[in-house]
Amino acid sequence: MRIEFKILRRDSAETAAWWQGICFETEDENATVASALRKINEAGNLVDTEGRTVKKILWENSCLQKKCGACAMVINGKPRLACDSFLRNYQKKGRGKITLEPLRKFPVIADLMVDRSILFENLKQMQLWSREEVHLTEKQRETAYDASRCLQCGCCLEICPNYLPGESFFGAAGFVPAARLIASLEGEEKQKLQKAYREHVFAGCGKSLACADICPAGIEVERLLVRSNAVAVWKKSLF
Ligand code: SF4
Ligand code: SF4
Ligand code: FES
Repeated sequence: MRIEFKILRRDSAETAAWWQGICFETEDENATVASALRKINEAGNLVDTEGRTVKKILWENSCLQKKCGACAMVINGKPRLACDSFLRNYQKKGRGKITLEPLRKFPVIADLMVDRSILFENLKQMQLWSREEVHLTEKQRETAYDASRCLQCGCCLEICPNYLPGESFFGAAGFVPAARLIASLEGEEKQKLQKAYREHVFAGCGKSLACADICPAGIEVERLLVRSNAVAVWKKSLF
């Protein structure tokens, strides 16, 4: 299989971006965008489609098995995990073209690497932790487990029409982790989280659910949103 990658490259946040073509060949039917990028970077002398020697491609990865979210990038126009994007799905008769861009809602560090620290700042702003031991019912445990699978990859923010960097709406990357705690906290902690939820989630979410279709972890985003809204806004308990 021969794939022609077109990669949006950038030396740093301060410099302009440019497209670069790099060809990759493999016989591995299970090759992914992530494994291709690793192999490409392993080449002693990396050349582009014009035959020029070029620098290694900067991108992030860790688990290579859909567990850490580090390899999220825009692949053929859609936010996806590189380690879960199989080359075979992008080719016909052994040939294919794949464009790679960094996620667009985060500051670019270089090439395909972005600074996602805003995600953690948002979680801190919502105070998504408990000082007391949390006791969950069986139903709450199910919801908490689903919410805990959030990778903080940022794919949902890429696709969300209402999420704008630096604004007060935190998107699904904010409300999915909130759903993990919101029903189980008590007293003042619960009230604080309900207030933060109304401000940073409910007030900004258009309920289009574009985020539900794109989530690489397959989280039931709609169910979590409905349940968290019920608890934080309508003061019901659906858990
Ligand atoms: S909700 Fe899904 S898409 Fe959004 S950050 Fe979590 S895992 Fe990624
Ligand atoms: S439901 Fe729509 S507006 Fe709300 S977080 Fe998902 S994509 Fe964004
Ligand atoms: S490298 Fe961890 S999710 Fe892809």
